[in-house]
Amino acid sequence: MAMRVATVGNFKGGTGKTLLSKQLGEDAAILRGLRTLLVDLDPQGNLSRRFLEMDVDDKGGFVPPIHPDFDLYKEDEPEWDGRDSSASIWLHGVSEPYPTRFENLHIIPAHSADLQRVDLLDEAEIYSKVANYFRDFIWTELFQDRFDIVVIDTRPSQGPLVQAALHASTHVVIPTQMESPSVEGLQGMISLISQVNAGRSDDDQLKLVGILANMFRTNLSIHQEFMAQMLEDPTIGPHLLDTVMHDWAGYKMSMVYGSPSLFQGSKSDKHYVEARQVCDLIIEKVLA
Ligand SMILES: Nc1ncnc2c1ncn2[C@@H]1O[C@H](COP(=O)(O)OP(=O)(O)O)[C@@H](O)[C@H]1O
Ligand SMILES: [Mg+2]
Repeated sequence: MAMRVATVGNFKGGTGKTLLSKQLGEDAAILRGLRTLLVDLDPQGNLSRRFLEMDVDDKGGFVPPIHPDFDLYKEDEPEWDGRDSSASIWLHGVSEPYPTRFENLHIIPAHSADLQRVDLLDEAEIYSKVANYFRDFIWTELFQDRFDIVVIDTRPSQGPLVQAALHASTHVVIPTQMESPSVEGLQGMISLISQVNAGRSDDDQLKLVGILANMFRTNLSIHQEFMAQMLEDPTIGPHLLDTVMHDWAGYKMSMVYGSPSLFQGSKSDKHYVEARQVCDLIIEKVLA
């Protein structure tokens, strides 16, 4: 199977990008046994913090821990300080994925300060330096042999890092909250996808897997009305996935470092059932 690369994006923050990235990674690795790589391209590092014990710098930014294989590589790579992140891809041309406590699931974590530096490059440099560089790295033969699926979590703003993620991807998924700013954020993503596709050949188009209505509250009439509006919108309606994720505290809890995967819990638990339905739908489209 050819490797698949899926970006989770929305220019608005707090729509559930990180939660969905984590859930997709855990479905792919734990339920399907796919060799899965998560890439954290958000300087906030929330995805990394779910899986690794991150260190904190003096400005409150996150720094990945010492890689567990550092001792093995130390002598061959005297330049390496033992920490790697998604920013190392640009800054050092290498980045060794970290294992997580889940079999088949690796992560290239964020480094807050270094990723901020990458995201400051100006427009002219985006494609030549940032986007092409990242794409070439993700699509090396080594990674294609090593991973079946890559899921990239992005930051909620337009910039080089989001452009790079899309440029390297085969698929995109957009989670949205039931409110206008997230819908504006997702419309921004949809136009960026068209822009990216204009520069790609017909057999290499970036596919929008779907828009996921997240933090849905069944008993809120404004959410019902909002859903109806989205369904009617010609740019959104056709892409809306027909399962939603409800606003449930158990999802938030499952983001905590060290907590078990929802997919290791009871199969009759409502979070297990719903998250599996959503992630299966998305992953099957990505693998199709
Ligand atoms: N369906 C949900 N139910 C409950 N809490 C959620 C749900 N989706 C996301 N959250 C929580 O809302 C906050 C924002 O979600 P997050 O995934 O971090 O958004 P983003 O990455 O888009 O900024 C986090 O605390 C997250 O755990
Ligand atoms: Mg996030």
